[in-house]
Amino acid sequence: MEYNLNPKLNPSEDAVLFEGKNHKVVYLGSRENSQSESVGVLSYLIVSNNEGLLIDPGGYHLFPKLVYNVSKYIPLNNIKYIYFCHQDPDVCGSLPMWREVCPQAKIAIGELWVRFLPHFGVENVEEVAYPLPTDGGTLNVGKTPIEVIPAHYMHSPNHFSLYDPISKFLFTGDIGIALGNFNYLVVKDWIDHIDYIYTPHKILMVSNKVTKAWAERVKKLEIKAILPQHGAIIPKKDVKNFIRFMENLKCGIDLI
Ligand SMILES: [Fe+2]
Ligand SMILES: [Fe+2]
Repeated sequence: MEYNLNPKLNPSEDAVLFEGKNHKVVYLGSRENSQSESVGVLSYLIVSNNEGLLIDPGGYHLFPKLVYNVSKYIPLNNIKYIYFCHQDPDVCGSLPMWREVCPQAKIAIGELWVRFLPHFGVENVEEVAYPLPTDGGTLNVGKTPIEVIPAHYMHSPNHFSLYDPISKFLFTGDIGIALGNFNYLVVKDWIDHIDYIYTPHKILMVSNKVTKAWAERVKKLEIKAILPQHGAIIPKKDVKNFIRFMENLKCGIDLI
Protein backbone atom coordinates (compact mmCIF):
# COMPACT_ATOMS: atom_id res chain seq x y z
CA MET A 1 0.00 0.00 0.00
CA GLU A 2 1.39 3.32 -0.94
CA TYR A 3 0.24 6.87 -0.38
CA ASN A 4 1.43 9.83 -2.38
CA LEU A 5 0.21 13.00 -0.68
CA ASN A 6 3.35 14.97 -1.23
CA PRO A 7 2.88 18.75 -0.75
CA LYS A 8 4.89 19.23 -3.96
CA LEU A 9 2.18 17.65 -6.15
CA ASN A 10 1.20 19.97 -8.98
CA PRO A 11 -2.55 20.83 -9.01
CA SER A 12 -2.66 20.94 -12.81
CA GLU A 13 -1.09 17.48 -13.30
CA ASP A 14 -2.66 14.07 -12.74
CA ALA A 15 -1.17 11.87 -10.00
CA VAL A 16 -1.78 8.50 -8.36
CA LEU A 17 -2.56 9.35 -4.72
CA PHE A 18 -2.94 5.78 -3.49
CA GLU A 19 -1.91 2.47 -4.93
CA GLY A 20 -2.78 -0.88 -3.35
CA LYS A 21 -3.38 -4.38 -4.69
CA ASN A 22 -5.67 -3.91 -7.71
CA HIS A 23 -6.80 -0.59 -6.30
CA LYS A 24 -5.83 2.92 -7.23
CA VAL A 25 -6.99 6.45 -6.48
CA VAL A 26 -6.03 9.10 -9.02
CA TYR A 27 -6.22 12.88 -8.90
CA LEU A 28 -7.05 13.99 -12.43
CA GLY A 29 -5.05 17.24 -12.65
CA SER A 30 -8.24 19.27 -13.01
CA ARG A 31 -7.34 22.41 -11.05
CA GLU A 32 -6.24 25.18 -13.36
CA ASN A 33 -3.78 27.82 -12.31
CA SER A 34 -5.03 30.48 -9.94
CA GLN A 35 -5.21 33.15 -12.68
CA SER A 36 -8.21 31.38 -14.27
CA GLU A 37 -11.58 33.10 -13.94
CA SER A 38 -13.48 29.90 -13.18
CA VAL A 39 -13.52 28.18 -9.79
CA GLY A 40 -10.87 25.48 -9.90
CA VAL A 41 -12.15 21.95 -9.27
CA LEU A 42 -10.60 18.74 -8.03
CA SER A 43 -11.74 15.57 -9.83
CA TYR A 44 -10.77 12.01 -8.96
CA LEU A 45 -10.89 8.45 -10.28
CA ILE A 46 -11.02 5.19 -8.32
CA VAL A 47 -9.93 2.06 -10.19
CA SER A 48 -10.69 -1.21 -8.42
CA ASN A 49 -9.99 -4.51 -10.21
CA ASN A 50 -10.09 -2.67 -13.52
CA GLU A 51 -13.48 -1.11 -12.90
CA GLY A 52 -13.74 2.66 -12.59
CA LEU A 53 -15.62 5.23 -10.55
CA LEU A 54 -15.20 8.77 -11.84
CA ILE A 55 -15.80 11.33 -9.09
CA ASP A 56 -17.11 14.85 -9.86
CA PRO A 57 -15.67 15.28 -13.39
CA GLY A 58 -16.42 19.02 -13.38
CA GLY A 59 -17.42 21.61 -15.94
CA TYR A 60 -17.73 21.67 -19.72
CA HIS A 61 -14.31 23.20 -20.42
CA LEU A 62 -12.44 20.57 -18.40
CA PHE A 63 -13.68 17.62 -20.44
CA PRO A 64 -10.83 17.35 -23.05
CA LYS A 65 -8.12 17.32 -20.39
CA LEU A 66 -9.99 14.96 -18.10
CA VAL A 67 -10.93 12.43 -20.74
CA TYR A 68 -7.27 12.31 -21.79
CA ASN A 69 -6.08 11.85 -18.20
CA VAL A 70 -8.73 9.24 -17.31
CA SER A 71 -7.74 7.16 -20.37
CA LYS A 72 -4.21 6.86 -19.01
CA TYR A 73 -5.51 4.77 -16.11
CA ILE A 74 -8.51 2.82 -17.41
CA PRO A 75 -10.26 2.10 -20.74
CA LEU A 76 -13.27 4.42 -20.88
CA ASN A 77 -15.65 1.51 -21.35
CA ASN A 78 -14.57 0.08 -17.98
CA ILE A 79 -16.02 3.06 -16.11
CA LYS A 80 -18.96 1.69 -14.16
CA TYR A 81 -20.20 4.85 -12.46
CA ILE A 82 -19.83 8.55 -12.96
CA TYR A 83 -20.61 10.10 -9.60
CA PHE A 84 -21.82 13.63 -9.02
CA CYS A 85 -21.89 14.76 -5.38
CA HIS A 86 -24.65 17.25 -6.23
CA GLN A 87 -26.17 19.12 -9.17
CA ASP A 88 -24.00 22.24 -9.58
CA PRO A 89 -22.42 23.14 -12.97
CA ASP A 90 -18.85 22.92 -11.61
CA VAL A 91 -19.65 19.26 -10.82
CA CYS A 92 -21.94 18.23 -13.70
CA GLY A 93 -21.20 20.61 -16.62
CA SER A 94 -19.31 17.90 -18.54
CA LEU A 95 -22.04 15.24 -18.02
CA PRO A 96 -23.34 15.26 -21.64
CA MET A 97 -19.84 14.69 -23.05
CA TRP A 98 -19.11 11.85 -20.61
CA ARG A 99 -22.38 10.23 -21.71
CA GLU A 100 -21.04 10.23 -25.28
CA VAL A 101 -17.74 8.53 -24.47
CA CYS A 102 -18.92 6.23 -21.65
CA PRO A 103 -22.46 5.20 -22.67
CA GLN A 104 -22.27 2.14 -20.39
CA ALA A 105 -21.54 4.15 -17.23
CA LYS A 106 -24.37 4.75 -14.78
CA ILE A 107 -24.86 8.28 -13.52
CA ALA A 108 -24.71 8.08 -9.73
CA ILE A 109 -26.38 11.16 -8.25
CA GLY A 110 -28.73 11.90 -5.35
CA GLU A 111 -32.27 10.67 -6.00
CA LEU A 112 -33.59 14.23 -5.74
CA TRP A 113 -31.46 15.30 -8.72
CA VAL A 114 -32.31 12.42 -11.07
CA ARG A 115 -35.28 14.30 -12.54
CA PHE A 116 -32.88 17.08 -13.53
CA LEU A 117 -30.86 14.74 -15.78
CA PRO A 118 -33.00 15.43 -18.90
CA HIS A 119 -31.73 19.02 -18.63
CA PHE A 120 -28.23 17.62 -19.23
CA GLY A 121 -29.48 15.87 -22.37
CA VAL A 122 -30.06 12.44 -20.79
CA GLU A 123 -33.10 10.91 -22.51
CA ASN A 124 -33.34 7.39 -21.08
CA VAL A 125 -33.07 8.48 -17.44
CA GLU A 126 -34.41 5.26 -15.92
CA GLU A 127 -31.81 3.18 -17.75
CA VAL A 128 -28.91 5.51 -17.12
CA ALA A 129 -29.38 6.84 -13.58
CA TYR A 130 -28.21 5.20 -10.40
CA PRO A 131 -30.16 7.24 -7.84
CA LEU A 132 -28.36 7.54 -4.51
CA PRO A 133 -30.86 7.06 -1.68
CA THR A 134 -31.18 10.09 0.60
CA ASP A 135 -30.11 7.94 3.57
CA GLY A 136 -26.92 6.83 1.77
CA GLY A 137 -25.87 3.44 0.45
CA THR A 138 -23.06 1.74 -1.44
CA LEU A 139 -21.44 1.92 -4.86
CA ASN A 140 -19.74 -1.40 -5.69
CA VAL A 141 -16.71 -0.82 -7.87
CA GLY A 142 -14.54 -3.83 -8.71
CA LYS A 143 -14.39 -5.59 -5.37
CA THR A 144 -14.75 -2.43 -3.31
CA PRO A 145 -17.96 -1.29 -1.62
CA ILE A 146 -17.65 2.50 -1.65
CA GLU A 147 -19.78 3.97 1.13
CA VAL A 148 -22.18 6.79 0.20
CA ILE A 149 -22.59 9.08 3.22
CA PRO A 150 -25.37 11.70 3.46
CA ALA A 151 -24.05 15.28 3.63
CA HIS A 152 -27.27 17.18 2.99
CA TYR A 153 -27.44 20.98 3.04
CA MET A 154 -23.65 21.19 2.82
CA HIS A 155 -24.32 23.11 0.75
CA SER A 156 -26.87 21.40 -1.44
CA PRO A 157 -29.82 19.28 -0.34
CA ASN A 158 -29.10 15.72 -1.49
CA HIS A 159 -25.34 16.15 -1.34
CA PHE A 160 -23.11 13.20 -0.44
CA SER A 161 -19.63 12.22 0.69
CA LEU A 162 -17.95 8.98 -0.46
CA TYR A 163 -15.71 6.77 1.68
CA ASP A 164 -13.30 4.34 0.07
CA PRO A 165 -12.57 1.61 2.66
CA ILE A 166 -9.38 0.51 0.87
CA SER A 167 -7.52 3.83 0.57
CA LYS A 168 -9.48 5.23 3.54
CA PHE A 169 -9.96 8.44 1.60
CA LEU A 170 -13.09 10.50 2.21
CA PHE A 171 -14.33 12.37 -0.89
CA THR A 172 -16.35 15.29 0.37
CA GLY A 173 -17.63 17.32 -2.59
CA ASP A 174 -18.21 20.91 -1.47
CA ILE A 175 -17.19 20.15 2.13
CA GLY A 176 -13.57 21.05 2.94
CA ILE A 177 -13.25 23.32 -0.07
CA ALA A 178 -10.81 26.21 -0.20
CA LEU A 179 -10.85 29.22 -2.50
CA GLY A 180 -8.09 31.75 -2.98
CA ASN A 181 -4.70 32.37 -4.39
CA PHE A 182 -2.60 29.36 -3.36
CA ASN A 183 -0.77 26.81 -5.45
CA TYR A 184 -0.52 23.64 -3.39
CA LEU A 185 -2.62 20.50 -3.90
CA VAL A 186 -2.08 19.08 -0.41
CA VAL A 187 -2.44 21.28 2.69
CA LYS A 188 0.92 22.11 4.25
CA ASP A 189 0.10 24.56 7.01
CA TRP A 190 -3.35 24.21 8.57
CA ILE A 191 -3.41 27.67 10.14
CA ASP A 192 -2.60 29.31 6.79
CA HIS A 193 -5.18 27.14 5.08
CA ILE A 194 -8.01 28.19 7.40
CA ASP A 195 -7.91 31.59 5.66
CA TYR A 196 -8.95 29.87 2.43
CA ILE A 197 -11.58 27.51 3.84
CA TYR A 198 -13.38 29.78 6.28
CA THR A 199 -15.20 32.14 3.89
CA PRO A 200 -16.63 29.49 1.51
CA HIS A 201 -17.84 27.39 4.45
CA LYS A 202 -19.38 30.37 6.23
CA ILE A 203 -21.32 31.28 3.07
CA LEU A 204 -22.19 27.86 1.65
CA MET A 205 -22.97 25.62 4.62
CA VAL A 206 -26.55 25.93 5.81
CA SER A 207 -26.08 25.81 9.60
CA ASN A 208 -24.01 24.47 12.45
CA LYS A 209 -26.65 21.79 13.01
CA VAL A 210 -25.83 20.16 9.67
CA THR A 211 -22.05 20.62 9.86
CA LYS A 212 -22.06 19.08 13.35
CA ALA A 213 -24.19 16.12 12.26
CA TRP A 214 -21.81 15.41 9.38
CA ALA A 215 -18.79 15.68 11.70
CA GLU A 216 -20.39 13.15 14.07
CA ARG A 217 -20.97 10.76 11.18
CA VAL A 218 -17.44 10.87 9.74
CA LYS A 219 -15.66 10.86 13.12
CA LYS A 220 -16.29 7.12 13.31
CA LEU A 221 -14.26 6.48 10.15
CA GLU A 222 -10.53 5.94 9.89
CA ILE A 223 -9.58 8.71 7.45
CA LYS A 224 -6.20 8.97 5.73
CA ALA A 225 -7.16 12.14 3.82
CA ILE A 226 -10.14 14.34 2.96
CA LEU A 227 -10.46 14.98 -0.78
CA PRO A 228 -12.78 17.91 -1.52
CA GLN A 229 -14.03 19.19 -4.88
CA HIS A 230 -12.18 22.53 -4.72
CA GLY A 231 -8.97 23.78 -3.17
CA ALA A 232 -6.62 21.30 -1.57
CA ILE A 233 -6.53 17.79 -0.14
CA ILE A 234 -6.54 17.67 3.68
CA PRO A 235 -3.99 15.07 4.81
CA LYS A 236 -4.31 12.82 7.87
CA LYS A 237 -2.43 15.21 10.18
CA ASP A 238 -5.17 17.84 9.66
CA VAL A 239 -8.29 15.63 9.46
CA LYS A 240 -9.04 16.13 13.18
CA ASN A 241 -8.50 19.89 12.80
CA PHE A 242 -10.98 20.02 9.95
CA ILE A 243 -13.61 17.95 11.76
CA ARG A 244 -13.27 20.22 14.78
CA PHE A 245 -13.63 23.24 12.45
CA MET A 246 -16.92 21.80 11.14
CA GLU A 247 -18.20 21.03 14.63
CA ASN A 248 -17.69 24.61 15.75
CA LEU A 249 -18.54 26.46 12.54
CA LYS A 250 -21.16 29.20 12.64
CA CYS A 251 -22.43 29.54 9.12
CA GLY A 252 -25.41 30.14 6.83
CA ILE A 253 -28.59 30.79 8.80
CA ASP A 254 -26.64 30.91 12.09
CA LEU A 255 -25.36 34.31 10.94
CA ILE A 256 -28.70 35.86 9.96
FE1 LIG B 1 -21.76 23.34 -5.17
FE1 LIG C 1 -18.40 22.96 -5.95
